[in-house]
Amino acid sequence: MKPSDTTALITGASSGIGYATAIHLAKQGFDVIATSRVYSRLQQLKEETDRLGFSITCVELEINSDNAVEEVMSRLIDDHDGIDVLVNNAGYGLFGPVQTISANELRAQYETNVIAPMKLANTVLPRMIKQRKGTIINVSSVLGQLGTPYNGAYVSSKFALEGMSESLRIEVWPFGVNVVLVQPGLYATQFQQNQVHAEQLHNPGLPLQRYLDAYFQRRGHSRRFAKDPIAVAKVIHRIIRSKRPNFRYPVSLEARTGLLAKRFLPERLFQYLVSRLTFPREQQ
Ligand SMILES: NC(=O)c1ccc[n+]([C@@H]2O[C@H](COP(=O)([O-])OP(=O)(O)OC[C@H]3O[C@@H](n4cnc5c(N)ncnc54)[C@H](OP(=O)(O)O)[C@@H]3O)[C@@H](O)[C@H]2O)c1
Repeated sequence: MKPSDTTALITGASSGIGYATAIHLAKQGFDVIATSRVYSRLQQLKEETDRLGFSITCVELEINSDNAVEEVMSRLIDDHDGIDVLVNNAGYGLFGPVQTISANELRAQYETNVIAPMKLANTVLPRMIKQRKGTIINVSSVLGQLGTPYNGAYVSSKFALEGMSESLRIEVWPFGVNVVLVQPGLYATQFQQNQVHAEQLHNPGLPLQRYLDAYFQRRGHSRRFAKDPIAVAKVIHRIIRSKRPNFRYPVSLEARTGLLAKRFLPERLFQYLVSRLTFPREQQ
């Protein structure tokens, strides 16, 4: 099928990986629908695609609202004669040691990172199954298979997304529909700026402050290694073109190395290495 006959919908396209993917797929000639919770945030994307001479459909979609997802998706499916590729990209990280996270904060994290992708998939699947083709790409993370400290809510949401994707992949496989996971490493996006800090993060009752300070310091250094998200966009394009895509696509050397280490190293050694990378020496 020609790219121009393929409609790809990307959530969270106002910045980062979603933005890069929308531009990259539009350049390749796909019929791209880019969504954001706030329409005006898509202005820059619209201007850039206009400047490059590609057309793109920008749509406001609050993925956390059941009504909005139902209404907007059914309209888009009608207008575009079906959606061939769904890229569930929108997501954020709730930051904080597990002890500081409230139940409501965890619910909100799951609502965006797990429940919204499932709702969106369920709107496009009936038509994909009927037509016996389609691809659902869920943007997970290297943290979808590997837990690091202070990211328990985010990590568990991505583990959940991966588990659900694994079941769904097998359910829809006989109908010619592909479900695929992308697991990026560290990319230069708005992710850290959009990160939500647990309200109890600086709870003086918890003996964690020194550890957290050290963690923030190290994280600041690691930002220097964040790469251009175009690499993730290119992998997403490769998946769309592939007739038989794999299930998981780790993107970046550190993502692949981390996942291999988790798989093959003894658990205690792996845990030691992660804590060495996270905490200063005297705190281990
Ligand atoms: N950057 C990395 O290093 C990295 C690594 C691994 C995985 N990822 C994953 O990649 C995906 C894209 O992230 P990014 O790095 O491109 O970050 P980003 O620049 O912050 O983009 C995330 C997008 O998701 C939407 N979003 C943010 N918070 C949201 C919320 N509470 N509810 C609904 N939508 C929300 C935003 O769109 P609107 O506000 O416009 O709706 C935003 O455009 C995420 O699923 C993230 O978990 C990123």
